[in-house]
Amino acid sequence: MLLEIKDLAVEVEGKLVLKDIDLSIKEGETHVLLGPNGAGKSTLFLTILGFPNYKVLNGSIIFKGEDITNLSTTERVKRGIGVSFQNPPAIRGVSVQNLLKFESGQDVEKPLNNRMVDLSEKLKFNNEFLNRDVNLGFSGGEVKRSEILQLLAQMPEFIMFDEPDSGVDIENVELLAGQLNDLLDKDKKPAKRKKGGLLITHLGYILNFVHADKAHILMDGEIACSGDPNEILEDVRKEGFKGCVECAKCS
Ligand SMILES: Nc1ncnc2c1ncn2[C@@H]1O[C@H](COP(=O)(O)OP(=O)(O)OP(=O)(O)O)[C@@H](O)[C@H]1O
Ligand SMILES: [Mg+2]
Repeated sequence: MLLEIKDLAVEVEGKLVLKDIDLSIKEGETHVLLGPNGAGKSTLFLTILGFPNYKVLNGSIIFKGEDITNLSTTERVKRGIGVSFQNPPAIRGVSVQNLLKFESGQDVEKPLNNRMVDLSEKLKFNNEFLNRDVNLGFSGGEVKRSEILQLLAQMPEFIMFDEPDSGVDIENVELLAGQLNDLLDKDKKPAKRKKGGLLITHLGYILNFVHADKAHILMDGEIACSGDPNEILEDVRKEGFKGCVECAKCS
């Protein structure tokens, strides 16, 4: 098991946002998290990453067999957890390439290594862009491409991506999905895949390009249903989240 969440309850700013969350993701698996606005999806990501404002009231988060519930974000990232944020902050005074060097363990005084230069070009970032401050004045699509470039610099074992397909045009979704597939070992046979992922998507568009093994619907801070991603998405499109959860088809 790569990630195991047991009976998790989380409070944010005095409000109980997540309760009774059980979620297990094996090596090589990609899961999808669906749910209405405000259900707690981003909160779950940030709790897995260990943001201090997100207070675990109950339960545990186990990563690669180790209880990380009380570890700092830095320690969790060191162990191989990576995230692409829904709304990452701008970092004035830090260039994209310096952040990439830091994330990939390169000397900041030396030029960006060839691997990262190639990946930047693949993601349509030129030199001028690499010198810009992180996320400052970036368009919605540029933010998402920059986030995935940072994940490629880190090469985490477990990847969380908050809405890779929102605000991104069709061509760029395909571009992002190609890199996401690489990050998730999708080019390898399922038994050989080591990486795992959890993606949040509202409309499921990204799933046309990235295969997911399981989907979960989060409603009011609880996992209301888990099952086959295509079946669940089809039902959500037809019936909405409430109707889908009431259908009792999923396990
Ligand atoms: N720092 C915070 N302070 C106060 N309330 C918060 C905080 N973070 C999250 N919440 C609340 O927790 C609930 C869940 O928020 P969250 O961002 O996890 O939802 P979401 O499922 O990601 O929604 P969306 O689909 O709109 O991104 C919301 O009601 C939100 O206002
Ligand atoms: Mg969110």
